[in-house]
Amino acid sequence: MKLRRILAVLMSVLLLVLMAGCGGSDKKETKIGVAMPTQTRQRWNQDGANIEKKLLEQGYSVDLQYGNNEIDLQISQIEKMIQEGCKVIIIGAVDANSLSDVLEQAKRKNIKIISYDRLIMNTDAVDYYATFDNLAVGTMQGEYIEEKLNLKNGGGPFSMEITAGSLDDNNTISLFEGAMDVLRPYIQKGQLVVKSGQTDLRDCAISHWKEEIAKERMAGILAAFYGDGKLDAALCANDSTAIGVQAALLEAGYSPATGMPIITGQDADKKSIKAILRGEQTMSIFKDTRILAEETVKMVNAIIAGKEPETNDIGNYNNGMKIVPTFLVRPQFVDGSNYKELLLDSGYYTESDIKE
Ligand code: BGC
Repeated sequence: MKLRRILAVLMSVLLLVLMAGCGGSDKKETKIGVAMPTQTRQRWNQDGANIEKKLLEQGYSVDLQYGNNEIDLQISQIEKMIQEGCKVIIIGAVDANSLSDVLEQAKRKNIKIISYDRLIMNTDAVDYYATFDNLAVGTMQGEYIEEKLNLKNGGGPFSMEITAGSLDDNNTISLFEGAMDVLRPYIQKGQLVVKSGQTDLRDCAISHWKEEIAKERMAGILAAFYGDGKLDAALCANDSTAIGVQAALLEAGYSPATGMPIITGQDADKKSIKAILRGEQTMSIFKDTRILAEETVKMVNAIIAGKEPETNDIGNYNNGMKIVPTFLVRPQFVDGSNYKELLLDSGYYTESDIKE
């Protein structure tokens, strides 16, 4: 009797082990492609690593590639993912406008495409979009300057210069519009003065969001327009452009001791948080890439299970060919007053990550 019970227990354990093994190997045969744009910026490394980790935890096999900011390289990486039989491909595009042909190939094979962080334009072969609310990022940057310069109560006139993102990235437009919707009325009223006169997106854009290009442009502006008189605010679209702008200002003699302009950023890069703590940058926008990765992997799970992924915006993201169902994650501003709570207490960084 006892022996029979022991045997029965053993059999059920064996069955469970077998079932788990089969389940795992099924998922292992489901390959997911992850095509990130570059490794030169901290955030994309984090995004890639977070997504890969979460997909592996779910039991998928993963092909993670970085495109080195080169359009052709990214296209060939995606082609390879299609040939390998990836069921879903998650793409942070190098260039939002160059993927139509390769995604057509994916569509023919019924491979689902998730546009990650940057909306892929001009193709109906993109299925879902997972991103932070970029318009809100811009609004927060604009409102930060508005508040610090007391513009609502008539503060000014103050000088401001604008540094935007890369024109091949659709986010650049939302960020610029979000910030300028807040700040443009003050420019019109004369409370903010852009001495360079560069207030159009095309004049302010920085190719590939490059730090060196942002630095060079700001150095030119400072030399030409700020020989006498200080710059009070620098609206910068993200942390790499903000670091470039700071470098130009420091070289031109600005310092935390004598007063830096208000400088915005985005991504809460370690480098920028250190700059905030040194008093060189003023704020950044914290986009918790762990949450975006998690939401994206939830989308993958739903697609693989034949279900409709959860989205929270089904009207606003038109890529020129279709309205792409979107999951938006809310960003938060971070500065010297709240970095501990947002970045350290949440485990995003450790003390040593942001120590000089
Ligand atoms: C992202 C930003 C990033 C920038 C440069 C944008 O598409 O939304 O977070 O700073 O690209 O990599």
